[in-house]
Amino acid sequence: MKRAVYPGSFDPMTLGHLDIIKRASEMFDILIVAVLNNNQKNPLFSVDERVKILKRATEGLPNVQVDSFSGLLCDYAYKNDLHVAVRGLRAVTDFEYELQLAQTNRVLSGGKLDTIFLSTSLEYSYLSSSGVKEIAYFGGDISKTVPDYVADMIHEKYKQN
Ligand code: PNS
Repeated sequence: MKRAVYPGSFDPMTLGHLDIIKRASEMFDILIVAVLNNNQKNPLFSVDERVKILKRATEGLPNVQVDSFSGLLCDYAYKNDLHVAVRGLRAVTDFEYELQLAQTNRVLSGGKLDTIFLSTSLEYSYLSSSGVKEIAYFGGDISKTVPDYVADMIHEKYKQN
């Protein structure tokens, strides 16, 4: 069985993330989308909400599982016997950070966790979760960036805040 993990903050999942999930799910028997539970950040959505969003988005993808993790990715990968991490690359500006992350994970895992990169589809190459949140915060149109139910959830959050 070829298994891989797609880790991220997913606060919230965008159509760009979903595109990577769909494409990676065709390359692996099992793809685990793993949401980082990071107390240091100030997320818009709780981990539970982010997991729910991802589960709903991937309902039609039977080989995709959604999970969450705390701490180091290499520890999560070790515990779950995962040896491949998937990450999306939007532009060259992502590359430096992503290369550092990949190399750190490779070193920390003693060479047992490798990272593969999928280039983001052109239509989503400008997208980021933080950008989506900012557009929504200032009342812009996010309908082309996230599924409708996620857009509703984001608007609801900003109504509450
Ligand atoms: O969606 P993001 O925020 O770009 O995802 C980043 C993520 C979650 C993949 C990365 O921050 C991560 O794996 N964090 C867990 C802590 C860790 O393993 N750090 C070591 C590498 S610096």
